[in-house]
Amino acid sequence: MSTPSAVLALRHVPEHPASDAVRSRLRRLPPLRYGGLPLASRYLLSPLAGYTNLAFRRIVREIGGVGLCTTDLVNARGLLAGSRRSLQLIETCPDDHPLAVQIFGNDAAALRDAAQFLEARGIPTVDINMGCPVERITKNGAGSRMMCSPAETVRLVQTVVEAVRIPVTVKMRLGWDERQITAPRFAREFEQVGVAAVAIHGRTRAQGFKGTVDRRGIRRVVEAVQRIPVIANGDIRTVEDAIAMFHETGAPAVSIGRGALANPWIFSQLCEWERTGRYSAAGNFMQRLELLKRQLHYLVERRGERVAVIDFRKMAHWYLKSMRVRAWLRNRFQQAQSLGEIDSVLREIVREGPVRGSRTGPLPQIRIPVPSGPVERW
Ligand SMILES: Cc1cc2nc3c(=O)[nH]c(=O)nc-3n(C[C@H](O)[C@H](O)[C@H](O)COP(=O)(O)O)c2cc1C
Repeated sequence: MSTPSAVLALRHVPEHPASDAVRSRLRRLPPLRYGGLPLASRYLLSPLAGYTNLAFRRIVREIGGVGLCTTDLVNARGLLAGSRRSLQLIETCPDDHPLAVQIFGNDAAALRDAAQFLEARGIPTVDINMGCPVERITKNGAGSRMMCSPAETVRLVQTVVEAVRIPVTVKMRLGWDERQITAPRFAREFEQVGVAAVAIHGRTRAQGFKGTVDRRGIRRVVEAVQRIPVIANGDIRTVEDAIAMFHETGAPAVSIGRGALANPWIFSQLCEWERTGRYSAAGNFMQRLELLKRQLHYLVERRGERVAVIDFRKMAHWYLKSMRVRAWLRNRFQQAQSLGEIDSVLREIVREGPVRGSRTGPLPQIRIPVPSGPVERW
């Protein structure tokens, strides 16, 4: 099912003054590609561990507009050992295309073998995680820690690139901390060893999720490469935010994480804006409810009722927040143990309607907070 933008009555004109200039630049660019892999749009879904599973990706794709989805980060060694969790993370289906699987690890041989394993399974592109700031990952030399050992990291990435025919990309931060802004150098060297694209979250590892994204820092990465696309990432919640990102970085593409949890219509809004200069409103209360039910259904298909009902709680939290559901009803949803109980809470949720706004009108957008506290303790 799709939610054609035509049924969404309100059409906004972006408030950003550079909207027209950015649109005309983007419309002159060739379509986005990762090497030989064409992408349907320049608006990509960023990996969000715990959220960007197959059920959510199907929802985002059904709404439309997304150019590429990426899985949660997958441990390369776990994948090779056939761990159930890793295999679940790479589950896909024919509609889930094009898909990047993101792998992490500190060992070139494991990353190389994992990339070959994924290529043999028909995965069209592999992304190497060099951005994860979480202590559990960095203490083993993986994630953003890889940004601290340039020569070794470039060799490792080259090993992976040369081992497969599918495009290999890298997602990284600006650097380990503000004294070591290494992303431009990495991007240049990655391009030379055959990486097909780099995605940049415009923060350092030391920043965690604090402060704002440094768009000038992303711009330096865009300027460091010659041909490959640089995907700008961080803090894009609205079409206006994306316009600002394009305007200030010169990047040809953006990726969106938390903004897509709050508003899975953001990709189709962006495509519509690129085409027409305007964009339709995000889904209303009833349309979000339909998505919630469908995503839960997809999860039940894969995991069975008992596991799905529990796994879905995390995601439901953001659906219900974005639908402006009252706190006591959100709590009841979180306590439901079966689909039957979920159904009855949902009926009550519809009877009550949103705290603010109406069931069929526009809803104020929520802001999804970031993990808090020092990154060392995550
Ligand atoms: C809960 C959560 C999980 C994340 N998981 C991953 C991940 O698995 N791999 C990755 O490269 N980045 C991960 N990120 C970082 C996001 O992909 C993205 O770079 C960051 O959230 C900034 O973009 P945004 O403001 O659009 O969310 C995660 C972020 C959050 C908040």
